[in-house]
Amino acid sequence: MSKEKHQEALTFRMLRLSILSLQWREKRDQNKAYEKAEKRMYQEHPSAYFVDDRSSADDLARLQVLDQMLTEVMGGVLPEQADPTIFQRVLDVGCGTGGWLIETARAYPAIPLLVGVDVSSKMVAYAREQAALQHLEERVEFHVMDALRMLEFPDHFFDLVNHRAGVSYLRTWEWPKLLQEYQRVTRSGGIVRISEGEWAPESSSPALTALFDLLLRAFFQAGHSFTPERNGVTSQLERLLQQHGLRRVQRRLISYDYRAGTKEGQRLLEDMTLTFRIIVPFLRKWTRVPDDYEQMYQQALADMQRPDFVARGHLLTVWGTVL
Ligand SMILES: C[S@@+](CC[C@H](N)C(=O)[O-])C[C@H]1O[C@@H](n2cnc3c(N)ncnc32)[C@H](O)[C@@H]1O
Repeated sequence: MSKEKHQEALTFRMLRLSILSLQWREKRDQNKAYEKAEKRMYQEHPSAYFVDDRSSADDLARLQVLDQMLTEVMGGVLPEQADPTIFQRVLDVGCGTGGWLIETARAYPAIPLLVGVDVSSKMVAYAREQAALQHLEERVEFHVMDALRMLEFPDHFFDLVNHRAGVSYLRTWEWPKLLQEYQRVTRSGGIVRISEGEWAPESSSPALTALFDLLLRAFFQAGHSFTPERNGVTSQLERLLQQHGLRRVQRRLISYDYRAGTKEGQRLLEDMTLTFRIIVPFLRKWTRVPDDYEQMYQQALADMQRPDFVARGHLLTVWGTVL
């Protein structure tokens, strides 16, 4: 690393730590320099996220829909946690639009600090805007950070580390280091909580099934999934947490239906419209995309609007306690 880069990295780290220190509120003036350093540090890093273009407006729109869909289907932000008010500092990794973290801040006003990190500066800028609009910036902050490098927080800092839908960028071999890093930044007795969906809902549309078959194949080929089946990640989550040091690992599986003409059905349609458009470069990279892809895509969208359309999805939350 050049002397200049080294100095920049040091400045960056000092600014980050100062924000997280007890006087973080008084350090607001440094935010501008901090954001500049943040941009320089992260803009060059490649990511295995299935969306190549990190500034994609379509992906932002897709993640807005996905966030609402997931929170609703799961029955809230922390439905399985007996008493979320015990969490004083919450970290959300790969936070996307910040929807989950902002909703957590609103649902639990006694939580004093909630931090979201995402590799995309566009997502982080949007999330900050949303927090400001809701006057939550005193308690909620967002930073650009690559979860696959190092989480730039002190040891034992958080009470809860949350991660939802990380499979989109995580490869199978990256889980051990990530889980270690989650435990490093969580206090003893704190919780690491992971939620992942099964990628492909079972559905009454053969065209949608064919699109999901392509996606599952590409995900497996790219190393995001442990097996080529739709539960290629969810079937492994408990084992991963147990094997990598978490204690008292528990699970909650949710199954939900999408039907044409319902709010959920409409959200799935919006999600699929964007997903199968954005994901084409990823599919081309990892599998053979049939010549009639566009036709399949249009057929799937038409099927999803038929009155008899139905699909069933599954979502798993697994959480464990840090030693
Ligand atoms: C499928 S979205 C999930 C967003 C959010 N967790 C939710 O459930 O609504 C995945 C997010 O991970 C982010 N991401 C991709 N690679 C990442 C990395 N290496 N470190 C941190 N975030 C990453 C993407 O920018 C995207 O916002």
